[in-house]
Amino acid sequence: MSRELSHEIDELIQVFKAEVEQVQSQQQHRGLKEKYFSRRKGICPLLMQRLRDIPPKEKAEAGRLINRFKQMVEQSLDEVFTRLEPDRRKPGIDWTLPPVSHAPGAPHLIERTRTELEDIFIQMGYEVAEGPEMESEYNNFTALNIPAHHPARDEQDTFFIQDIDDMVLRTHTSPVQIRYMKSKQPPFKAIFPGKVFRKDEPDATHTPVFHQIEGLLVDREINFSHLRGILEAFIRAFFGEDIKTRFRPGYFPFTEPSAEIDISCFLCFGQDAECRICKGTGWLEILGSGMVHPGVLMNCGIDPDLFSGFAFGMGVDRIALLRHGVPDLRMFFENDLRFLRQFR
Ligand code: PHE
Repeated sequence: MSRELSHEIDELIQVFKAEVEQVQSQQQHRGLKEKYFSRRKGICPLLMQRLRDIPPKEKAEAGRLINRFKQMVEQSLDEVFTRLEPDRRKPGIDWTLPPVSHAPGAPHLIERTRTELEDIFIQMGYEVAEGPEMESEYNNFTALNIPAHHPARDEQDTFFIQDIDDMVLRTHTSPVQIRYMKSKQPPFKAIFPGKVFRKDEPDATHTPVFHQIEGLLVDREINFSHLRGILEAFIRAFFGEDIKTRFRPGYFPFTEPSAEIDISCFLCFGQDAECRICKGTGWLEILGSGMVHPGVLMNCGIDPDLFSGFAFGMGVDRIALLRHGVPDLRMFFENDLRFLRQFR
């Protein structure tokens, strides 16, 4: 019996080898697998069934033969499958692994504040433009009516660039006014956001790098009431409808007249003599502004008899600090994630 079986299996092996060589597609593979392994009519299960009729003495030997055949068929079918579909067998993505957690980032509070401020002016039709952080002394000072020995130059305690004459790290965003006006003829309105640099000793309200947004509008017959209307609309949009504004006379060499703009304290509304943000004054200073000086317009090739305009500048860091009650400006630059994550 066993010899008969062994003979039969030898033949089956020949047949299978010929068949497996023909397999070209998944479908053929599936067909062959059926033929050998389908539960009721598969060749291997049928062989196993025949074990029952084999005398006990020969059973072990017959079982081994059948098993070896079964394994051979199984293995070659697997090999063929690998050849047909290499990608599914290659170690690829293991979908069962737990996901890699990647902490989503978020814009820094200063960045976020800058975008919010910008958006208000964009909605009012302002263009956003930028200038370089390293600027000529001419654009940063001279063209803005700040002559060589003007006290404003000392006040701003400038970083000069070693070995490059007449270049500074800009001390404000106002030089972008100069660049913009030189490159365009009015009418125009634009804002200029960016980093500025002053040689300040860092403390709770000073850092040597900070951020400003400059604004500029030039057209025919622009007067101070336009400046006032625009800035009040901006303040209401950003700080809320019930915020009051106060225009105080100010001085900037490049605007005339000039005004400093305060908003009513949104924390205590002037009610708390020990308020930690307004210090009991009831007012917060947030903007410098004024009518563009005719000399500055002329420096940029714009005729002050035909055109007039206004300009303003604000500190982004200071506005973010006031609005969120941050006690110390340096916290924005220390990059302590425990601090930054509060503002996501
Ligand atoms: N450049 C001024 C500053 O840095 C702010 C300013 C801008 C004032 C525009 C008037 C007009 O303090």
